[in-house]
Amino acid sequence: MSMRFLGTGSYVPQNVVTNDDLTKLVDTSDEWIMQRVGVSTRHISTGETAADFAIQAAKRALEDAKISAGEIDLIVAATVSADSVCPTVAGFVQRAIGASCPCFDVNSACSGFLFALDVVASFIIRGGIRNALVIGAERMSKIIDWKDRGTCVIFGDGAGAAVVAPGEGYLASRLYTAGGDEVIEIPNYGGDSPFFKGEKKQPYAFMDGQETFKFAVGKMTEDVKFVVDEAGLTMDDVDFVVPHQANIRIIDFASKRLKVPKEKFVVNIEKYGNTSAASVPMALDELNKSGRLKRGHRVVLTAFGGGLSSAACIIEW
Ligand code: COA
Repeated sequence: MSMRFLGTGSYVPQNVVTNDDLTKLVDTSDEWIMQRVGVSTRHISTGETAADFAIQAAKRALEDAKISAGEIDLIVAATVSADSVCPTVAGFVQRAIGASCPCFDVNSACSGFLFALDVVASFIIRGGIRNALVIGAERMSKIIDWKDRGTCVIFGDGAGAAVVAPGEGYLASRLYTAGGDEVIEIPNYGGDSPFFKGEKKQPYAFMDGQETFKFAVGKMTEDVKFVVDEAGLTMDDVDFVVPHQANIRIIDFASKRLKVPKEKFVVNIEKYGNTSAASVPMALDELNKSGRLKRGHRVVLTAFGGGLSSAACIIEW
């Protein structure tokens, strides 16, 4: 169905923040964060924006795919933490790499990259796209309340990108949304209109951790089973699972429930934390660059997050 992957790239800002660094900001400990979440370090921007990360990840993906910017006919970026609504992250990438094509951003929180992939798959089916860039880029540090220990220990900054082209490597996909703000909410800046009398919330990520956890484990299992089944395959046919890096315990649960050995899961949460829409493409790039991924391998990508949303797809490399 519709598209194949030609190359990947990723980028994180240089500045590393350890769990011990965070103990200077909030009442927490390395032990608690490692045990409850599985994060040891995260990369946190000291000056670059989500668009800056996206540009670097996109350049690396183009290099990996051996494709020039002039051969790109569409750029779609997923983000919830861009520094400007307009230009879009995708638009910044276009200018930086010297492409000439339609560009836009999508937002489905941590599931965003998989939503963007599905959008690009639809464009490719419509025809006229030689190659497309799909990106997940986040400066989560911008929308975190650094006084809230329930969220600030979890997230990190970064970007991941993939170059895709028409082909037969996108076997099945599933997108899910249950609109609501009770479990996860990321309010925007409320503005300062003298006429607006509604509530103005702080523009920081709010999350009910335990409800998110339950949603994540349930949906990850359900979505992965669905796409594998839809592709006419079984779990034994899956070579790798690239899950959203939100909590190591969620990944452990998914591995047990799906009866897929943990070795098949790509896990890098310890180094980067949860980078929202960047998490899946960053992990996919790590798998690709590790040399373990061979043409013909079947890889399941799966994510969940604000929206509430979830998504999964199965691809043939
Ligand atoms: N350091 C130390 N203690 C902390 C802490 C921190 N950073 N954050 C919370 N705690 C405390 C709580 O205050 C609570 O203390 P209490 O028992 O005295 O009230 C205790 O730890 C347990 O809190 P709880 O919220 O039940 O912890 P948890 O085991 O559910 O872990 C999360 C919290 C957020 C790590 C976990 O729920 C989670 O990962 N949920 C999913 C989040 C997710 O996937 N988000 C991404 C969405 S895309």
